[in-house]
Amino acid sequence: MTKLLLRALAGETLPTPPIWMMRQAGRYLPEYRATRAQAGDFLSLCYNPELAAEVTLQPIRRYGFDAAILFADILLVPQALGADLWFVTGEGPRLSQIRSAADLDALKPAEAIHETLSPIYETVRILRRELPAETTLIGFAGAPWTVATYMVAGRGTPDQAPAHALKDADRGSFVRLIDLITEATIAYLSRQIEAGAEVVKLFDSWAGSLKGQDFDDFAVEPARRIIATLKARHPGVPIIAFPREAGQRYIGFAKATGADCVALDNSVSAEWAASHVQADGCVQGNLAPQQMVTGGPGLVAEAQRITRAFRGGPHIFNLGHGITPDADPDNVARMIEAVRTA
Ligand code: CP3
Repeated sequence: MTKLLLRALAGETLPTPPIWMMRQAGRYLPEYRATRAQAGDFLSLCYNPELAAEVTLQPIRRYGFDAAILFADILLVPQALGADLWFVTGEGPRLSQIRSAADLDALKPAEAIHETLSPIYETVRILRRELPAETTLIGFAGAPWTVATYMVAGRGTPDQAPAHALKDADRGSFVRLIDLITEATIAYLSRQIEAGAEVVKLFDSWAGSLKGQDFDDFAVEPARRIIATLKARHPGVPIIAFPREAGQRYIGFAKATGADCVALDNSVSAEWAASHVQADGCVQGNLAPQQMVTGGPGLVAEAQRITRAFRGGPHIFNLGHGITPDADPDNVARMIEAVRTA
C-alpha cells in the first residue's frame, strides 16, 4: 500500500502526514469560479460529471494534495429523497421543510435516490481514471442528524432549533426521518464505493448541538449503523467520521462507531486531542480555516505546532472546517510547505 492517506488510515505513524483540505475545490480558487460560471450554478455543477470531476482535480493539479474529495454536496441526498433544494446566492441552501408525519410520508424510499444521484457515481468513475496514482479518492455524505437539521428547518440555522423542536415534540416522526436518511446514506455511500471511492467521510457538522443521550441516539448510533453496514459490504474501505464540535465526546467516538479516523474541528487543541483521541487511532485536523486568510508567520507556526503535536501517532493534516472563499490561494502552498518541513 503506497498511498499515504491509506497508510495513515491503516494506523501507520508517518514522518510527514498526508494533507488535504475540506472545501479544497471552492470559491477561493479562480479556476473553480470559472468552471462554476461555465456550469451556470452550483447544483448544475454538482450534477455535471465532467465539470464536477474538473473542479475536484483543480486543487490536486495546483497543490498536489494527498487526497481528492468528490465534488458534490450533502444536501443532494434530501433532494434525491424528494425535497426541493435551491441555493440563494450569498445566503446558502433552501429546502422544502419536513414538519409532520405527512411531510415524511411524501418522501421517496431510500432505494429511489439513485435515479437522481447517478451523475455523482459517474463523477467518481471519471475521477478514479484521472487522478494521479498517489492520490486517494474520498467520497462523502452528510451524517443523518446534520442532514435532518436542514430538512426540518429548510435552511441552515445557528442552533438547529427547528430539528431539536421536532425531536422533542414528535420523537416518533423524527426517528423515522433519521432512519430514512440513514438507509439513504448507506445506499449512496455503497454506490460511491462501487464506483471507485477508496475512503468515505461522514460530515456531522452540527453534532455539537446534541447533548447527553441525544448525542448517543442521533450522532453515535446512526454513524455506527452506517459504518457497520458499509464495513460488512465493503471490507477494507476506511471511514472518516467528523462529529464537529463534539468536544469531550470526541473521546471514544471512533471505538463507539467503528470509524477508522475521527476528524477534529479547531475548537479542541491538538495537544489535548493527541493524548485523548489519537490514543484510539488515526485523527484528522485541525488548523483554523482563518489561518488561510491571515497567513504570515502565524500560519506557519500553527501548521507546525499541529503537525508536531500529532507526530506520535497516525495523523492526516487538514483544516478544522472548510476553507473560506476569502482565503489566499498562496497561503495553501505555504501551509503545505510548513507541514512538510515541521
Ligand atoms: O470539501 C469539498 O471540497 C467537497 C465538496 C463539498 C461541498 N460541500 C461543496 C460546496 C462538501 C464535502 C460539502 C459538504 C457540506 N455541504 C456540508 C458539511 C461540511 C460543512 O461545511 O460543515 C454542509 C453543511 C453542506 C451544505 C452547504 N453547501 C452549505 C451550508 C452551503 C452554503 C455555504 C457556503 O459555503 O456557501 C453549501 C454550498 C457549497 N457546497 C459550496 C461548495 C463548494 C459553495 C457553493 C458555491 O460555489 O457557491
